[in-house]
Amino acid sequence: MAPVTTIQRLGKFVGQVVELQGWVYNIRSSGKIGFLMVRDGTGIVQSVISRNDVPAELFGAFETLTQESAVTVRGEVRRDQRAPGGYELLVNGLDGHHVAQDYPITPKEHGTAFLMDHRHLWLRSRRQHAIMLIRHEIIRACRDFLDSNDFVLVDTPIITPNAVEGTTTLFTIDYFGRSAYLTQSGQLYNEANAMALKKVYCFGPTFRAEKSKTRRHLTEFWMVEPEMAYCDLEGNMVWAEKLVAYVVERVLETRLEQLEVLERDVSRLEVIRTPFPRISYNEAVEILQKAGVNFQWGGDFSGSDETVLSENFNRPLIVHRFPAAIKAFYMKRDPDNERLALGMDVLAPEGIGEIIGGGQREDDLDTLVRLIKENDLPLEAYQWYLDLRRYGSVPHSGFGMGIERVVAWICGVSHLRETIPYPRTLTRLEP
Ligand code: 4AD
Ligand code: MG
Repeated sequence: MAPVTTIQRLGKFVGQVVELQGWVYNIRSSGKIGFLMVRDGTGIVQSVISRNDVPAELFGAFETLTQESAVTVRGEVRRDQRAPGGYELLVNGLDGHHVAQDYPITPKEHGTAFLMDHRHLWLRSRRQHAIMLIRHEIIRACRDFLDSNDFVLVDTPIITPNAVEGTTTLFTIDYFGRSAYLTQSGQLYNEANAMALKKVYCFGPTFRAEKSKTRRHLTEFWMVEPEMAYCDLEGNMVWAEKLVAYVVERVLETRLEQLEVLERDVSRLEVIRTPFPRISYNEAVEILQKAGVNFQWGGDFSGSDETVLSENFNRPLIVHRFPAAIKAFYMKRDPDNERLALGMDVLAPEGIGEIIGGGQREDDLDTLVRLIKENDLPLEAYQWYLDLRRYGSVPHSGFGMGIERVVAWICGVSHLRETIPYPRTLTRLEP
């Protein structure tokens, strides 16, 4: 009996006969020799079947197969530099389990809308497969980095009575006759958890009713959010850049093959090292104005403003100290300038823009009460949050990193719809 293995492990079986369980990615035949590209979820391997060397019924079974039919193939593993993946299989056995009829995604070009409608099948394609593997590695690297630096994973609720990032993007749900929201960020709970456990993080789906259609916004996206007690803005920036550099390094270490499938220019990633350049919002405004962008102090950066700013650097750029008026209520004011908040954004290069948002939190009770009122938020709903400033308040900071934006940057894909298995946007709920 041939051992059952996976395509990613073929290198261990050179010269041996193995069994692979998968699906037909592509099939062609010269009449004498059949080529079966088999994918098994871990990779794709070219399997060769020769009419003269196998029983007639075996070659006959091969000829009934179609794209995406389920098959088990057995054969000898051979090293072949020219074959995609470096190995090929010389087939001497084959079981067809299910013959797929008229698989809709053929090797010809399809439009994006068609592919998005078939997202549940599109995920099988080589490119989407590569993106999902890199996404997994990015998530794993985030967790490894935080876990190994003594951050404690503390889960935060998805259903919440509190707005975090403004009230315009809230998804409201009916909660047994009361209204509740889908979380925009775990931050407020993270702050409570940091006072209990010092360094914490949450990692989960977050929701924003983004009413604009852009390549950078989803309505459901995943965010990793570290929060640290006894940490100021400066310390926060250091954690952020370390995390980003660690994630990039990990993907380069483990996912070069997938980056190659995506034709990613890895030299752009190899230069990502700490420290990242830092500029204040005020300096950013100067850069924009010098570049001829019509930008007034006090405004928020658009995607194209972020591109202009980050074009000057080959590493992610940290922008800090924003006008308080454009930032969320919880941000601590800059002691040197009341109009500024101690926030920071990390902007990725290559036109990706903001991948991280965060900052130092307001830790003074009276100031925070005033900010909640000024932002027209219901004070009552934030009493529990204010408790954190009543009992042992300390300087603390944190940030949120949007996983899909990071996947887009590292993979070199410009639209977030390809960075998450089932994207949710203004116009898309299915599949
Ligand atoms: O800058 P944001 O809004 O910050 C927060 O939510 C903070 N409460 C996080 C914290 O300090 N714990 O969002 C953080 C990141 C952004 O930098 C971006 O990467 C991502 O979340 N993000 C989105 N990603 C996809 N689609 C959207 N609609 C996004 N909105 C934010
Ligand atoms: Mg932000």
